[in-house]
Amino acid sequence: MYSTAFLDLPALASADGTVQLPGSKSISNRVLLLAALSEGTTEVHDLLASDDTRVMLDALREIGCGVDESAAAQGTVRITGLGAAAARSPARLFLGNAGTAMRPLTAALALRGGEFELSGIARMHERPIGDLVDALLQLGCHITYLGNPGFPPLRIAHGNGVPPLALDAPVRVRGDVSSQFLTALLMALPLVAHEKDVVIEVVGELISRPYIHITLQLLERFGIRVQHDAWQRFTIPAGSRYLSPGAIHVEADASSASYFIALGAIATAASAEKPLRILGVGLESIQGDIRFVEAARAMGAEVTGGPNWLQIHRGAWPLKAIDLDCNHIPDAAMTLAVMALYAQGTTTLRNIASWRVKETDRIAAMAQGCRQLGATVEEGPDFLRVTPPSSASDWRAASVHTYDDHRIAMCFSLAAFNPAGLPVRIEDPKCVAKTFPGYFEALFSVARTPVERIPVICIDGPTASGKGTVAASVAQRLGYRFLDSGAMYRITALAALRAGLAIDAAHQDRIAALARGLPVRFEAGRIWLGGDDVTDAIRTEEAGMNASRVSALPPVREALVALQHSFRRLPGLVADGRDMGTVIFPGAALKVYLTATAACRAERRHKQLISKGISANIDDLRADLEARDIRDSTRPVAPLKPAQDALVLDNSLLTVEEAVEQVLVWWQQKQPFAASAPG
Ligand code: DC
Repeated sequence: MYSTAFLDLPALASADGTVQLPGSKSISNRVLLLAALSEGTTEVHDLLASDDTRVMLDALREIGCGVDESAAAQGTVRITGLGAAAARSPARLFLGNAGTAMRPLTAALALRGGEFELSGIARMHERPIGDLVDALLQLGCHITYLGNPGFPPLRIAHGNGVPPLALDAPVRVRGDVSSQFLTALLMALPLVAHEKDVVIEVVGELISRPYIHITLQLLERFGIRVQHDAWQRFTIPAGSRYLSPGAIHVEADASSASYFIALGAIATAASAEKPLRILGVGLESIQGDIRFVEAARAMGAEVTGGPNWLQIHRGAWPLKAIDLDCNHIPDAAMTLAVMALYAQGTTTLRNIASWRVKETDRIAAMAQGCRQLGATVEEGPDFLRVTPPSSASDWRAASVHTYDDHRIAMCFSLAAFNPAGLPVRIEDPKCVAKTFPGYFEALFSVARTPVERIPVICIDGPTASGKGTVAASVAQRLGYRFLDSGAMYRITALAALRAGLAIDAAHQDRIAALARGLPVRFEAGRIWLGGDDVTDAIRTEEAGMNASRVSALPPVREALVALQHSFRRLPGLVADGRDMGTVIFPGAALKVYLTATAACRAERRHKQLISKGISANIDDLRADLEARDIRDSTRPVAPLKPAQDALVLDNSLLTVEEAVEQVLVWWQQKQPFAASAPG
């Protein structure tokens, strides 16, 4: 996940390949509960790993279900349900902030019998549950509030079994506060629909109908067929029994799929040969937002698919403008506004008043972003009309404010395919975490762009100038990848010595051959050479000296070029070394030559060693690094020197933070975004 202040997307050119979308949160917890009520074992695939599913799994284990998480890393969890058996009680269940666990578990446990206490974090205790509890009390359940009336925590006291329930009259529940109350009853009442049908009546307007649709569809997968009358009266037939489907796939969020459907429409080739494939949600999705596919097709996308996959490639190009009532796909329709930037003519999205009261005023935010990109936008209380920039030269590089709204961030990432080849800045990219923490990683895994467009910042300089620390920090601040090229030489030297090769010209070809096939891996801050963690071994003074020697051998330098180039990947790279700006990335957009006086560098190195508990003599260190400076800068190939277009930064008197800030200021100055750097 990118937790940077902003994420700059370089201009992207095309997309192809496969993305696996994460399972939907609300479907995950519904499936877990239904599996827990069924007899037998259900294999749940593609379960979303999140706080909310965590508490649900723990609670199910607590009440006596079998929960096998041995394949959880592959997204599969096996639940052995209670079936006819009693839940284990008494039990205390902690449900965090998961409304999707609190509400249905309350209903299911109340109808199941036993003694339970259900609680959560402080915020959970501020989220209403009174309407659901009222419905259960009306049936004859014994439930008491342990804190404020109407809110968790609560206690279910059915120690002597479920009391006789009043099932003859319809169970009445309010539908205008949260549809989760109705969902909870729909999932739990089949437990008691033995001899007679059980009827639920919704009081007041039912909100979030698509979510009830999901509940009904999932119930059907577990053998319960609920009939409904205009979404106001629901009948659970007598004799209903939960039947495990054996295995079930948790669908991905259909609105998350919309970004990739749009991506396929905008950025794939106009043939089925190199399509974009989306795994996790398909044409048979039970989610209302899957109808986004129809809208995307109307704009020109070629979409095919199966039960849980979709395949998209470009059809009409430019896309076709549309005029659409979007009431049935409120969330996914935002993606159409960005597709409109690639259409011929004006696109109008109607009946979207609900956008104004979501995470942010989405009509205003979408209008603002589209305008910043150069589009002409008209907005009304319940509509948005987008006319794209009239030619490539009318596009603008925009820094898009995302208002802590995941969908705004994901939508505008698609502007990176603009025909003007301009980058797009997404402010506060971590806001995508609400539904799709790995969104940008998924995007980068299928987006392609010519390598020259991937920005590189080079930070070269002599040993102990602080370039490694500064470069790593700049990379982190920008969300860019990081290349410590010195490590390549250090690893090569180590590999050579381990292979029994002396580091000299006589062995240069054999060392180069070794360098070309280095089995090196960079993982979570550690460096692996084959099966060995060499992170510490390559950091010694001796290893540095050996690296300097090995780096003077021309065939070795040549052999490491491809490996270093392979680090240039989306969204960008910060590379530190000696010849990043001069040899390896001569076209880099920013080259910094970071230096400091020899005295200062010797002192820093000294401090560093002392802090690691290694004793050292400051004069010896200075002599060593001066010797390395001389070798590194007088060798015939790629000698250490500032690139002609490098900006020299002497950081003798600067802190690391100050040096990082200076590099970032220089970087900002090179960006085309009109707005000043966001905070
Ligand atoms: O940056 P460092 O101390 O880890 O580098 C170790 C040696 O590797 C350095 O003395 C010279 C060599 N090197 C190089 O020649 N070119 C680079 N781009 C990086 C390092």
